[in-house]
Amino acid sequence: MTTSAGTDLSQIDISDLSLWDDGPPHEVFERLRNEQPVHWSPLEGFAHEAGFWSVTRFEEIASVGRDFETFSSEMGGILAVNQFMPDDQIPDDAPGEPLYFMRMMLIAQDPPRHDRLKALVQKAFTPKRSLDHADRIREIVNLVYDNALQRHPDGKIDLVQDVGVYVPAMVIGDMLGAPREDADKLVDWTNRTTAFEDPRVVGDMSDTWEALKEVFEYVWNLVEARGEERQDDLTSALLDAEVDGEKLTAGEICMFWFLLMVAGNDSTRATFCSGYLSLLEDPEQMELVKSGAAGPEQVVEEFVRFHPAFAYMRRTATKDTEIAGQPIAEGDKVLMWYVSGNRDASAFDNPHHFDVGRTLNEHQGFGGGGRHFCLGAGLARLEMKIWLEETLRRFPEMKLDGEPTRLSSTFLNQYRTIPVAV
Ligand code: HEM
Repeated sequence: MTTSAGTDLSQIDISDLSLWDDGPPHEVFERLRNEQPVHWSPLEGFAHEAGFWSVTRFEEIASVGRDFETFSSEMGGILAVNQFMPDDQIPDDAPGEPLYFMRMMLIAQDPPRHDRLKALVQKAFTPKRSLDHADRIREIVNLVYDNALQRHPDGKIDLVQDVGVYVPAMVIGDMLGAPREDADKLVDWTNRTTAFEDPRVVGDMSDTWEALKEVFEYVWNLVEARGEERQDDLTSALLDAEVDGEKLTAGEICMFWFLLMVAGNDSTRATFCSGYLSLLEDPEQMELVKSGAAGPEQVVEEFVRFHPAFAYMRRTATKDTEIAGQPIAEGDKVLMWYVSGNRDASAFDNPHHFDVGRTLNEHQGFGGGGRHFCLGAGLARLEMKIWLEETLRRFPEMKLDGEPTRLSSTFLNQYRTIPVAV
C-alpha cells in the first residue's frame, strides 16, 4: 500500500481495491481529511468516467448530502457501479443501462419524485411502527440461532454466514411478504447484486444481471398472487400506491421491492456482525455492555459509527460549484465517504477508538442527513438492539474461533466470515 506519509496524494486512487484488503484504508482517509479534503482520483478504462472527487470531512459530507439541488442522486446514480464496471464487462444482453434501472428507485432520484415515492412507505418505517415488529424480530433471531446450531451441533458457527445473512433477510422478507423459506434466495440476490467487486461472490457482471432478472420474476409472482387478495405487507402497499394519481409501473414496483430488500439486508448484517466482532475483540468494551454501563441503543449507535455499512454514496454536480474552495465542474462525480466522516476528529473525540459508552454520537452511518437519510434507520436500530440482547442472553461466552475474512469491496464495508464458538 502506498500510503506512507510523504506519498503524493495525487497518486492515490481510493477506488484501488488493494487499499481495502484489511477494510477501509483509514490512514489514507486521515491524510486526505488533513491535507486534501476534496480529492480527485483519476480513472482509466471507463469511457464515461474520467474520475471522481472524494469528500472526506464530516462537515462537507453533511453539506453535500443536504444540497440535493447541486448534488444530484439521479443524474449519475448513487453507486459507482458505472465507474467500477468497465464498459467491456457489461454483457450484450444486459436488460438496459444500469442507470436506467437505478433511477426507478428513490435512492437514485431527486425531489420532487423522490419525496413522493418515499412518503409512500415512510409510515411503515417510523421508529414507532418499527416497534410493532419487535416480537417478530426476537423470534427470528432465536430461530436463526437454533437453525445454525442444528447445522453445527458442536457450536462452531459463522456469525456472518450462519446468522448474519439470515436475520435481516427474514425481517425485511416478512415485511415484504416473502415466505421465510425463501430467505436463502433473498440473501443470494442481495449478494449477487451488491458484491460485484468480489470475484468469490460475483463471477462476472452477467451474474448480477441474472440475479436482477430472477428478482423481477419473483416479485411479479408475489404481485400476481396479491392481484386477487391483498395482504398486510409492503408488496400489497406498492401495488396500490399512487404517485400524482398514477400507479407505479411494473418496473418501479420491482425496483422498489429490490431496493428495500437489498438496503434492509446487506447493511444491517454488515453493521451488526462487524460491531459484535469489535466487542469480541475488546473484553473491556464487552464488559461495559454486559454490565449495562452502556445501554443497548448506545452500543448499536457505536456499531453504526465505527462500521458504517456503506463506505460511500455518490452524487453528480448539476452545475459548476465548489466544495471547501475546490472547484467542481457540472457533471463531476462526488463520493461522500461516510467511513471517513465517522472518523473525523472535528466531529468525534478519539474517533478511532471503538467506544460503546459514547454519549454524543451524531454519526453519518445512516447518511449525511438531508433527503436521502436512511429510510430504515428506525427498523435497523431496533433490529440490532434485539439481536444484541438475544446474542448476549443466549451466548454470553461466545468466542472468536479463527481469523475473520473480509469481503472485497470499496462500497460494502463488511466481513465475509467471522468464525465463532458458542
Ligand atoms: C445498519 C443498517 C443500515 C445502514 C447502515 C444503512 C445506511 C444507509 C445510508 C448510508 C443511506 C443513505 C443513502 C444516500 O446517502 O444516498 C441509506 C438509505 C436508505 N436505506 Fe438504509 N441503512 C440501513 C438499514 C436499512 C434498512 C433496514 C432499510 C429497510 C428497508 C433501509 C432502507 C433504506 C432506503 C430505502 C434508503 C434510501 C433512502 C432515500 O434515498 O431517501 N436501510 N441507508
